[in-house]
Amino acid sequence: MEDRKKIIEEQDRKIREKMAKVRHKIAVISGKGGVGKSTVTANLAMAFALKGYAVGILDADMHGPSIPKMLGLKGRRLGVSKDGEIIPVLGPMNMKVVSMDFLLQSDEDPVVWRGPLKMSALRQLLAEVEWGELDYLLIDLPPGTGDEPLSIAQLLPEMDGVLIVTIPSEVSENVVKKSVKFAELLKLRVLGIVENMSYLVCPKCGERIEVFNTGAGKKIAEAFGVPLLGEIPLDPKISKEADSGMPFVVDFESQTSKAFERIVKRIEEALN
Ligand SMILES: Nc1ncnc2c1ncn2[C@@H]1O[C@H](COP(=O)(O)OP(=O)(O)OP(=O)(O)O)[C@@H](O)[C@H]1O
Ligand SMILES: [Mg+2]
Repeated sequence: MEDRKKIIEEQDRKIREKMAKVRHKIAVISGKGGVGKSTVTANLAMAFALKGYAVGILDADMHGPSIPKMLGLKGRRLGVSKDGEIIPVLGPMNMKVVSMDFLLQSDEDPVVWRGPLKMSALRQLLAEVEWGELDYLLIDLPPGTGDEPLSIAQLLPEMDGVLIVTIPSEVSENVVKKSVKFAELLKLRVLGIVENMSYLVCPKCGERIEVFNTGAGKKIAEAFGVPLLGEIPLDPKISKEADSGMPFVVDFESQTSKAFERIVKRIEEALN
């Protein structure tokens, strides 16, 4: 027991030491599954990297890690340095990526972990990974308000804040409310809301087509007094690109890419 306490203290010390070299830490959350958290994380990371920032991604979705696939890093493995540190996988633009997926033998392996085990895995990934100097560390979380977001909030109390990803539907208001309350409870700043799949871009002519309840994100943001950071179109290319492993934002001229650039700009403004 005494040993375990010592290990935890040592890891907490390492987290403080390492995270002091990471200028900004942002977690991406949502009360709902499948709204595009991982897509937003991967593309935002790319958009930050394209601006010249040093970027890392911690894929904290232990059960359904999807960042490696989106960044074309499936099948890669974490390394170990001479002094026993975990070496992240290098993604596009040299971003440092850490994911459970780099530890699993196969896609069919389920992760059957209870809360405390997830907490210690995340503690280890923050403490033992060679993160180095980073401008932005983005943390992709599973949906909801379970063990992973709680653990991250506890392990990184100095975090800059959370991005809430939502989609424009009737349920999203309640879903966002839950996320905002969760952030308040944990004393985390809500950097803003990203409305994903906001409108449709016609693949042929590029015209903007409103599919859902237009302006939902804006209304919700106003209701909760948090900024709406951006609206990302429902873009058929985004999922195709995700499957091919190249984040979408590299298609500079697209509206989707521009939407991500605007979000980056707003985050920079909010944090500086
Ligand atoms: N703006 C978009 N346009 C088109 N497809 C999108 C868009 N955003 C996300 N998708 C697609 O929707 C699916 C779900 O996205 P993603 O995995 O990012 O959601 P998530 O919120 O991380 O899901 P989970 O809750 O399972 O972690 C993916 O197939 C993704 O390619
Ligand atoms: Mg996800």
